[in-house]
Amino acid sequence: MPTPSESPLDRLDRPLRKLRISVTDRCNLRCGYCMPEEEYKWLPRSAILSFEEITTLVDAFTRLGVHEVRLTGGEPLLRRDLPVLVRMLAAHPALDDLALTTNAVGLAAEAAFLREAGLGRLTISLDTLRSERYRALTRRDALEQALAGIEAASRAGFEGIKLNTVVLRGENDDELAELLDFARDGGHELRFIEYMDVGGATRWSREAVLPREEILARIEAAFGPVHEVDAERRGSAPAQRYALQDGTRFGVIASTTQPFCGACDRARLTADGHFFTCLYAREGLDLATPLRAGAGAQDVAELLRARWSGRSDRGAEERLGMEGRGRLADAQELARDPHLEMHTRGG
Ligand code: GTP
Ligand code: 5AD
Ligand code: SF4
Repeated sequence: MPTPSESPLDRLDRPLRKLRISVTDRCNLRCGYCMPEEEYKWLPRSAILSFEEITTLVDAFTRLGVHEVRLTGGEPLLRRDLPVLVRMLAAHPALDDLALTTNAVGLAAEAAFLREAGLGRLTISLDTLRSERYRALTRRDALEQALAGIEAASRAGFEGIKLNTVVLRGENDDELAELLDFARDGGHELRFIEYMDVGGATRWSREAVLPREEILARIEAAFGPVHEVDAERRGSAPAQRYALQDGTRFGVIASTTQPFCGACDRARLTADGHFFTCLYAREGLDLATPLRAGAGAQDVAELLRARWSGRSDRGAEERLGMEGRGRLADAQELARDPHLEMHTRGG
């Protein structure tokens, strides 16, 4: 572990602890809150970092204090040989947590390999249990595959699987209790996520957001009173955790109405090696160019240190105070700069 003097604090005194790595910008679903357009331009193949390049960059990040890595996308399982990367990262002595966020559509075939390669934790996106609705929300007919993926992950020995549900008013907000029952039966922890106005969410509107209080009210209407748990242990985690009277735990991620920027210790790396210090940041730092010009992990660590020390991002909090809050960018702007897209910078 780096000593405190080697771990920079940003301008708001936040350390860098967690890194989300998008291993591909491609996805096999087209969720309306993330990829509503008909066409997308993908990052060029030659720009996509190799596993060796990713490993060197991760090594650089650990020198600043990163000890948790989450692999994401796009849909990370579309990246060929993902277990090979998992094995490479799992071997890094400074990483004590290696997780994956996936839609589980391709998970049935991969779960056991990922587990065997050293993946520690899994988070699975699941917004509905109804096939027709799944097709409407994701524009793909893949609910059965996703459910098979979840089952395979349990069988492969993953414990404490988290299920993420983005709640959309008028689309799946009548299904919260069923989703929670499903999670409880499978031994998973469900987190309800407020619809966020991130890049890519070109259809976002304030009206479509179901705020945390309404989410909780619906759960209470179905299951009786809930109470908050582990508030003192929340730290920088985005989810507030609650329990039903029977002890079932679930979370609410209220990034839209109650942002957690004050405790934000995370950064993002895109599949083509751009470093973003905020989910809402307009500009990233290109690490691929210096890396491909011969920079080693220590050289990259110095670039990261300079960027993190100057960081003052509070993207979600700033948006909270915005009058006439709307989408971050329109479709033309996103097409010009795909790095603004959530599916590029890591969902
Ligand atoms: P663990 O605590 O390791 O399980 O990770 P996590 O809670 O960060 O979970 P996950 O990666 O599944 O993120 C869940 C959701 O939190 C995302 O889909 C976003 O909606 C929201 N979120 C994740 N990262 C950020 C962030 O950097 N800023 C904001 N405002 N919201 C985020
Ligand atoms: N609002 C909230 N969460 C989002 N995600 C993507 N787009 C949004 C959005 N507009 C997150 C969800 C999804 C993961 C892949 O990315 O958690 O499950
Ligand atoms: Fe961190 Fe930016 Fe998300 Fe706030 S909006 S929690 S600063 S990434």
